[in-house]
Formats: sequence, structure tokens, C-alpha cells
Amino acid sequence: MRRIRFFDTTLRDGEQSPGVNLNADEKLEIARQLARLGVDVIEAGFPVASPGDLEAVRRIAREVRGPVIAALARANRLDIEKAAEAIEPAERGRIHTFIATSDIHMRYKLRKTPDEVVAMAVEAVRYAKRFADDVEFSAEDATRSDWDFLCRIFAAAIEAGATTINIPDTVGYTTPGEYARLIRYVRENTPGIDNVVISVHCHDDLGMAVANSLAAIEAGADQVEGCINGIGERAGNAALEEIIMALRTRKDYYNVETGIVTEEIYRTSRLVSTLAGMHIQPNKAIVGDNAFAHESGIHQDGFLKEPTTYEIMTPQSVGRSHSRLVLGKHSGRHAFRVRLQEMGYDLDEEKIERTYQRFIELADRKKHVTDRDIQALVEEEAVRVPEQFVLDYLHVTSGTSALPTATVRILHDGVPREEAATGDGPVDAVYRAIDRVTGIQTKLAGYFLNAVTGGKDALGEVTVQVQDNGRVYSGRGTSTDIIEASARAYVQALNKLAYDRARAADGAGAGVAQAAGGAN
Ligand code: KIV
Ligand code: ZN
Repeated sequence: MRRIRFFDTTLRDGEQSPGVNLNADEKLEIARQLARLGVDVIEAGFPVASPGDLEAVRRIAREVRGPVIAALARANRLDIEKAAEAIEPAERGRIHTFIATSDIHMRYKLRKTPDEVVAMAVEAVRYAKRFADDVEFSAEDATRSDWDFLCRIFAAAIEAGATTINIPDTVGYTTPGEYARLIRYVRENTPGIDNVVISVHCHDDLGMAVANSLAAIEAGADQVEGCINGIGERAGNAALEEIIMALRTRKDYYNVETGIVTEEIYRTSRLVSTLAGMHIQPNKAIVGDNAFAHESGIHQDGFLKEPTTYEIMTPQSVGRSHSRLVLGKHSGRHAFRVRLQEMGYDLDEEKIERTYQRFIELADRKKHVTDRDIQALVEEEAVRVPEQFVLDYLHVTSGTSALPTATVRILHDGVPREEAATGDGPVDAVYRAIDRVTGIQTKLAGYFLNAVTGGKDALGEVTVQVQDNGRVYSGRGTSTDIIEASARAYVQALNKLAYDRARAADGAGAGVAQAAGGAN
């Protein structure tokens, strides 16, 4: 089976991402992780750029074993000497030299004729060969270059000793079909090409870097270049982890093998993201937070029945621990029930249904429903007594210079009753209005407010204790709105109190407060 080589340029092209600046220790740490990932070549830097860059490449060359360590050089003697100095301690080193070949670059940037550019390429490869057997030659802006000129310069570079020729889509301009044709054209029209490695290097300006790289592999490229997380100049380079997983997941189609340890992908991605300070978008393929998360009820149900219904690769295959069922407003009962079981709750069907309904109401208001939210909902459900009073409507006005006023509507055995009241604060106003509606006068013995979850949309949990006839009744309410949570808690406590009173009136004896040891 054909083997595809992976050339990682996270430390060179990736470091050219705006705002990214890695120090030598950070580069070394990433290089070590890239070696664990199993890439074939690490392009460790551009040594002529700065003494720091040269030193970093040198340290990597000295300390990292396994992959070939490459250093970049323009087609001139100084660059090549610096690159040679940097890779000198490597077990296996490579000098990667390049020159632009498109008319636009040759005319405006280099101000050289095509013949002069060929001569410079040949001279550079020959000079690099004095220091390294392994020399890669790149035709910068190849995809906007004349195809016959490309074949001419590649043939000359091979003749001069290049062992790899690279065909970069420097400005992310090509398309998969066109790039595949170019690779085939170069393969068929470049003397000596059969004896060297054909490499491809794509940028993502039109969002096609990965697709272009894969098309090139289909067309016969042996080596693919790119960066972890797709970082790099402008819109970035081809994301290596995406190419790797495409080749693995669609082995039936590509029919190639690699030396990559895919289980190291996620660790590598996190390390690069942290050290480069480049956040990964949640929906990024393979390594984004949502890449193995399911929110819709239909998907969750399918996934729980058989993961392959909605996952084409396992999270473990890229080094992630598990898939995630995100509990949100699109979630169905199946996922909710499974989550309850995972959290150790064993509720009967009726309680599951009621908690699920509360959960859906909450998910409508809150972006992420966490396990602590669910815990709070379940606990609230667990101490349920028959509900004489049900909070139906709540409106509160309050502010720095307004008198707190609350209007409350409560269904009393299904009959709506509404009252308004003012108070010292919004909660006091609500409680006074509830007292008026229910006709129950109590003494508030305790009021506790807890943020159950973090974030601005946190779920507030309120616990209240009311005293009646020497007994204490507690109630708990949860909501993203703490006034509503306070009202729910109070109504729940009053329901228990009313339940006890009714039972006492019926001569039933022990009520909920007593049953729970005086206070519940
Ligand atoms: O994008 C490019 O052309 C490059 C070359 C130096 C290979 O990064
Ligand atoms: Zn590049």
C-alpha cells in the first residue's frame, strides 16, 4: 500500500500566523509532541530570520529523535548556511530551499527573468547538497505558475540533487480538480520525477486547503505539508489532523497508509492551541469542542442506540475520551434519562417525566444545562407534595429609585388568584403578594441563595424555611431568575405547610415536617 508522508510546518509556516510567537522551549515541547504523533518531517523554523529561530531549530535538531528535522532557506547562500548550521546536530536533517516561479512573483517580487530563477534554483540546491543529502525544493506560488515552466525548474532542481520537490498553493488559489490535474501534469512531464518525493503544500484562503491536499494525494502526491489546527500565514495552512483522519476514516477510498499515531492528535492540538494562543473554533473538525457532541434529540437517540449512526470515527481514535450528549432544548427524553442514570438517579417514570418538563423549560432559557442544574431539578422534584398552589405568573418592578412591587398569580387548586404588594426588596414584595393570595401568614425562618452553576446565565437555587405552629417547612426553587427561584421555593414550602394543615384537620396525624424529623 502506498505510504503518505506527513511534513509538519506548524513551527515554521504555523508560526507565521499573525500574533503567534513561540519561544524555543515552547517549540521544543511541540516538536517532541509532533514526534509522538508520528509525523515524518518537522519543519522547525526559518533560521536566517533571527538568531533565536536558528537556536530553536538547532535545539530541536539536537533533542528530537524520529522525524527528519527540516529548516527553511530562500535560494541564497546565507539562508542555506544558516539552515545547515541549524540542522547540523540532527539525526536526519533536511534543507528546504524555495524560490517563486509565477510570473507575478518573478516580475514584481524577485525582478528576475525565468532563466535567472532557474539558475538560482539550481545553484541553491547544489549549494544545499554540500551540507545535506536530503534537500527539498519548493516552487513558491506554483499554482499560479506556468505548468511547463514548473516542469522545467523541477527537472533542473532534481538534476542538481533535490530529493523532494514541492508544489505549493502558496496563496490558496487552486481548486481540487485543478490541483489534481497539475500534480498529474508535473508527474508526467518532469524528467527524473520518478526518483524523488512529490510534496504538496496548501493554504486555506478559499477554505479548500484540505480538499486540495487530498485531491493531490489521489493524483499521486507522496508527501503532504500542513499545520496542526490549520494555523499558518493568513487563513492558515491545511489542517494536518483533518487530512490524517480523512485518510484513516476513508481508507476504503484513498487506500493509503501513514505512520501517524492518530490517538495523539487531540493532545497535539491542545498543546499547539495553548502555546500558540490560538483558540480552536467549537465546530472545528476533529479537534473542536463540538466535533463529538450531539444536541438534537433525534441524533442523541440514534447515537445511544448505535454510535455509528451519527459518528463516522470514534473520539478515542483521535485521543479524546468520549462523545458528549449536550443537554439542551433539542434534547429528547432518551438522552435525559441516560444522563440521570449516569448521575446515579433512579427515578420512577412519572418523576422522570416531570423533571424532564422542568429541564426543557430551563433549557429554553439557559444555553448550557449542566449536571449541577439537573441535580438541582431532581432534588426539587424529590420533595414534592400535592400542589395546592402553583405559581402561574410573576411580575416584579424594582430599581435604585423604585418601590419594589410584585404582582403574583397563583393557581389555587386550579383557580387563578392574583395579588400585588410592595416590599423592602423585590423578594419581600413577592412573598407579601404570595401571602395575600394564599391567605397563609407565616414567619420566614431562613432564606438561602446559591448560584448552582457558573456563568452569567447561572442557575440560582433558593432555599427558604417558614415556621408554622412550631414546625419548620422548607422549600427549594431553581431558576435562572433568582426572584422566580425565590417565589418557587416559597410556594413549595407553603404547599408542604398547607398539606400538613389539611392532614391535621383530617386527623391524619403526622405531616411532612414531622415525617422528616421536624424540618424538611
Ligand atoms: O506557502 C509557501 O509557498 C511556502 C513555501 C516556503 C513552501 O510556505
Ligand atoms: Zn506556506
